[in-house]
Amino acid sequence: MSDKVKELISKCLQARDMAYCPYSRFPVGAAILTTGGAIITGCNVENASYGLTVCAERTAIQRAVVEGYRQFTAIAVTCDIKDRFVGPCGACRQVLMEFGSDWIVYLTKPDGSYKETSLLELLPLAFSPAHLAKN
Ligand code: THU
Repeated sequence: MSDKVKELISKCLQARDMAYCPYSRFPVGAAILTTGGAIITGCNVENASYGLTVCAERTAIQRAVVEGYRQFTAIAVTCDIKDRFVGPCGACRQVLMEFGSDWIVYLTKPDGSYKETSLLELLPLAFSPAHLAKN
């Protein structure tokens, strides 16, 4: 594992510890790697009006954009489930797709082991900004 991937994995695990999830008690952490090598993290932030909850992946994307980053190469995602690799929800897959299809996705277990996949694999035949181009 490269040092950058190690750092990405470790930061997504740290971000999970910051999750605000009093309702589900299901903490999720995400860490996004920019093309320049910066790492931006996110955790899920729940709300008493449950539908207003924001997933870890989307929290991370929103932070990244505010900080001026729009080009990404990878995201690591983790939760507390120890015995299987868990993927991002469908809404988050679509939100990642907004910033390109060329993402590596590291599905990370609490012990830091991970399965490498890609956004294209997770969201085939996706709707993307290119489809909005006028003919
Ligand atoms: N959650 C995420 O943060 N990311 C996902 O991809 C799936 C679900 C959060 C939302 C909610 O706070 C909790 O996990 C249980 O659904």
